[in-house]
Amino acid sequence: MLRMIASFDRPEAGVRALPDLVSESLGLGSYDAMLKSVLLDQARLADWERVDGVVSEAIRELLQGGTEAATSLLERTANINSRDSLPVFALLEKISKQLETNSEVEALLGALRGEFIEPGPGADIVQNPAILPTGRNTHAVNPYTIPSTMAFARAEVVAGNLLERYRAENGRYPRAMALVLWGLDNIKTQGEGVAQAFWLLGVRPVRDALNRVTEVEAIPLEELNRPRIDVVMTISGIFRDLFSPTVLLLDKAVRLVAQLDEPPEMNYLRRHVMEQVRNDACLFDDAVARVFSNAPGNYGTNVNFMVMDSQWDRDETLGDLFVTRKCFAYGRDSEGRAIEGREARLAMDRALGRVEATYQNIDTFEIGITDVDHYFEYLGGISKAVEKRARARPSIYLSDSLSRDAKIRSLEETLRLETRAKTLNPKWYEGMLKHGFRGVAEIESHVSNTFGWSATADAVDDWIYSEVAKTFVLDEAMLERLRTLNPHSAHSLVGRLLEAHGRGYWDPDSGLLDRLREISGSLEDQLEGVA
Ligand code: BEZ
Ligand code: MG
Repeated sequence: MLRMIASFDRPEAGVRALPDLVSESLGLGSYDAMLKSVLLDQARLADWERVDGVVSEAIRELLQGGTEAATSLLERTANINSRDSLPVFALLEKISKQLETNSEVEALLGALRGEFIEPGPGADIVQNPAILPTGRNTHAVNPYTIPSTMAFARAEVVAGNLLERYRAENGRYPRAMALVLWGLDNIKTQGEGVAQAFWLLGVRPVRDALNRVTEVEAIPLEELNRPRIDVVMTISGIFRDLFSPTVLLLDKAVRLVAQLDEPPEMNYLRRHVMEQVRNDACLFDDAVARVFSNAPGNYGTNVNFMVMDSQWDRDETLGDLFVTRKCFAYGRDSEGRAIEGREARLAMDRALGRVEATYQNIDTFEIGITDVDHYFEYLGGISKAVEKRARARPSIYLSDSLSRDAKIRSLEETLRLETRAKTLNPKWYEGMLKHGFRGVAEIESHVSNTFGWSATADAVDDWIYSEVAKTFVLDEAMLERLRTLNPHSAHSLVGRLLEAHGRGYWDPDSGLLDRLREISGSLEDQLEGVA
């Protein structure tokens, strides 16, 4: 974690990213340039490993011997003046100490006694280490500061990469995209997801005299240099509740863009709205709805529950459920009257029917798309809804804040990466198994969440299920450990693999299937014995 923290500039603490410092001092040039060329140039791989090695060693030294030992190590190995490296090690040492304190239980008890609990920001630890120490009274952000200037600048790169990725694969820009926006994520990033939606539409936030973001203005097409994308936003109930001024602003941005006098091939949103008004003989207000969430007071898509309980027959049911839960429009109509969760199923069906790509911003180092069921519930749910309404499966993308160059990955790529890095990685699952009963449940839940991506997006390669079977079920010693620690989860895991086959997501050979069925039966017997 300290290495991740050290890999970004921290201008607020006068700290430069450690890999940059090392790379430059070793005469290897800019670390960013190195990252970009590593894939193409084998020689740079060695440079990269060298820099990474020095960084790791310095942090190990810091943890063993303190800041002085670490600065002198860098002086010796990378010729970095201690004046330049001291700020970063001082910061890391402070963070390291704070990571070791734990006052969460104490603070909770204090709160229950009605005592004052010191406030602290809510954020991702790598993005903002000031969240430490934990156990404070977490506060969110002032919605009027969203998106921050920094978030808007970062989002330009991500939105640009996203559009270029689609263009590289399809030969042109997507005309319409569907985005998932979450509340906690936009707190952590000061509104990066919101800013990405603004960039796709081609608008920028405008601050008023009190420095509050209360308006948007169109970025001129000459400056944007590409068409404005039609963006359908599904926002979580948490986002809706935390960011009501932002919800209005997103709707305002859509209405602004739809009314710009621009050629249809440069403004897909306007083109779609105009076509819909003409073809459906509907009102502008109906054709322009793009900001959707749950009905007031409601949260979630329930797609995750339907998947986990195996309660669906046809895949399209999952997309329909998503729309049923999320088809409530928010914003202001042309008369300026508030639309606060007006059911707009037809408008959402029409908007999703044009979508060619779906996308969610991943902004944390801590939670990935197989760690929780919320990613497939949202991004998978909306992709499945698009598939039926647009009569084609959309391209599905995620961003990756783990990379400094704002990488965009397809859903399939992200799943392969996470499966290798977590579910099938002995370092990960052995770590989980140290937690006994709960650890086995966590392994099972990764398999089920992976299965959720089959159900909603058919995005899981066969080898993933085959390797899961091999690692956790066919390996007798491993199976023995799982069933001893937690027979319930072991049984569910095998059941999920059989279901993946039953629903046509995985095609193993019949010998393997027979073996899985046999093991499933023996686990059932064991559980009956337990009961
Ligand atoms: C949110 O922050 O909006 C969110 C968190 C968990 C699940 C879904 C949404
Ligand atoms: Mg398949």
